[in-house]
Amino acid sequence: MKKKIALFLTGALFCGAECLAQKALKDIPLKDAFAKDFNVGVAVAQSIISRNETESIKLICEQFNAVSPESVLKPEYIHPTPDRWNFQPGDAYCKFAADHGLKALGHTLMWHNQTPDFFWLNADGSVKSQEQIKANLVEYIEKTVTHFAGKVYAWDVVNEVVSEEGGYRNDKGWEKYYKDLDELVCLAFSTAQRCDPNAELYYNEYNMWRQSKVDGVVHIVKMLKEKGIRIDGVGIQAHWGLNYPSVKDIETTIDRLYDLGVKVMITELDIDMLPFSKEGQMTGKAMYDPALQREEFMRYLNPYAQGVPEEVEQQIADRYEEIMRTIYNKRDKISRVTFWGLHDGVSWKNDYPIPNRTNYPLLFDRKLQKKKAYYQVVNIPSKKK
Ligand code: XIL
Repeated sequence: MKKKIALFLTGALFCGAECLAQKALKDIPLKDAFAKDFNVGVAVAQSIISRNETESIKLICEQFNAVSPESVLKPEYIHPTPDRWNFQPGDAYCKFAADHGLKALGHTLMWHNQTPDFFWLNADGSVKSQEQIKANLVEYIEKTVTHFAGKVYAWDVVNEVVSEEGGYRNDKGWEKYYKDLDELVCLAFSTAQRCDPNAELYYNEYNMWRQSKVDGVVHIVKMLKEKGIRIDGVGIQAHWGLNYPSVKDIETTIDRLYDLGVKVMITELDIDMLPFSKEGQMTGKAMYDPALQREEFMRYLNPYAQGVPEEVEQQIADRYEEIMRTIYNKRDKISRVTFWGLHDGVSWKNDYPIPNRTNYPLLFDRKLQKKKAYYQVVNIPSKKK
């Protein structure tokens, strides 16, 4: 009995201490916490706008000062078939941003994903001529950038064309079907610049902590500058995990990009904590094999379907703090940090790289409540370290 009471008292004391520690952390909106340092953005899912989800909208306005369109400004939305152009969802996104005083990014013009095959292939599956492929890109950029001129302040002009080794990739889309990627990248940037001279123009890429990949991005920036074509910034996507990348790699990448004389942004931050994908970024559909959906695999791959234990929640928070502190320490070189999704429930990481998992990659939970990670992040500037 005595033992039980002692145990109870220790528990109560512990909880008390922890609640106090939690209280000691200030609750200050992300955009205010980092007001002196960089803009703080969020990727907005189409449903939030089209269904007018008021709670989500309230949270976006309270916490962020910039938005990215999660999908509606991608080619499969804007130009889904050869004879169809649809700017409506993109216009709704721009209106949403303007109504709420949020900086609206355009994302993305030249990308191998979420771009219909007809950009490169004929209806019979044969590859289009090089001239035709090039003309398709130019037409797409001309129409799209002209339409959104004055509505978006910047474009991710080219997305993910560099391979892990540092050359151009050659497995999909533009990179697979067009022979001269240097030429195509230059054309994408110069066309965007011509159609909206006031928009900032960015290159955006994932796995940017890998220095061989940064080599490829450095090549692109230098090439554009040498040719007198404007590039204003590079986006580091930051789909990162609990166990990768190292702080040192992140720092090296930020320094290398900044030294090129362009803006450096963290454009798609989320932290994957689930088995396997917390170790490194899996890409493509390799893990979409239905066999992995069987119980014996999902038990291992999807362990937190019913919620995360306290210590795991703490691990995510500590990792977020580590990453955001690294970025904060480099704040003089960073112009924006954007989270890829508003809350855990709408994150693409629930279905990628493995479908049907319950992931916890963001600062707000499925009920839109602030997580431990949120408190630890917004308190970074006031915490001396
Ligand atoms: C993702 C979206 O979040 C998903 O909803 C969509 O199904 C696929 O694309 N790199 C990018 C983003 O540049 O556009 C991607 O967004 C994530 C990887």
